[in-house]
Amino acid sequence: MSYTLQALRLTDAQALANFYNGLQPTTIRTFRPLGDRTTLAACRQIAAENLTDPRGRIDLLAWNIDSIVGWAFLANLTSEQPYLGIVVAEGWQGKGIGKSMLGRLLAWGRGVAVSKVYLMVVTDNQRAINLYTSHGFATYDEEFDELDQLPYYHMAVDLEAG
Ligand SMILES: CC(C)(COP(=O)(O)OP(=O)(O)OC[C@H]1O[C@@H](n2cnc3c(N)ncnc32)[C@H](O)[C@@H]1OP(=O)(O)O)[C@@H](O)C(=O)NCCC(=O)NCCS
Repeated sequence: MSYTLQALRLTDAQALANFYNGLQPTTIRTFRPLGDRTTLAACRQIAAENLTDPRGRIDLLAWNIDSIVGWAFLANLTSEQPYLGIVVAEGWQGKGIGKSMLGRLLAWGRGVAVSKVYLMVVTDNQRAINLYTSHGFATYDEEFDELDQLPYYHMAVDLEAG
């Protein structure tokens, strides 16, 4: 079960859309940055935002041969609140892929002087919370999302803290 990490390319937009639309409901419950389903146009837009100057976002894909098995990103990079999203396909979870994508993204963020990264996590998503706290994220607020009907923690990490 090997994988390689690679930056998202414009040519990956269709594969990313297929990956997202193939995620199981249990995963989409806790990871839904593009809603229930996405489109090729939305994924092309994501890829394009990796190429803007200043850069709008960084997206990483984990590949097993020609299948995407993970996706992680820092978005809103030109705003005061860059945020993180991360997902690993069912069957590939718990094997270190999330940890390696998160480590890579935070190292990139430190390298380009991103000062703080934010995220929201469903309060019962213990695996994700463990992953985030082990990388320095701390909870600073809690919110019940009326749309999802789920409780979330707001977490953030200060990348300048070392
Ligand atoms: C959350 C998610 C990204 C983590 O990625 P992953 O590849 O499954 O996790 P990893 O194997 O890299 O493990 C990372 C850490 O998670 C924790 N972890 C792993 N498996 C766990 C489990 N079964 N229970 C609790 N914590 C667990 C550990 O802290 C682990 O670090 P360690 O190995 O140093 O102890 C992934 O499980 C996922 O995509 N889940 C569904 C979507 C989702 O919830 N995304 C996050 C939205 S906020």
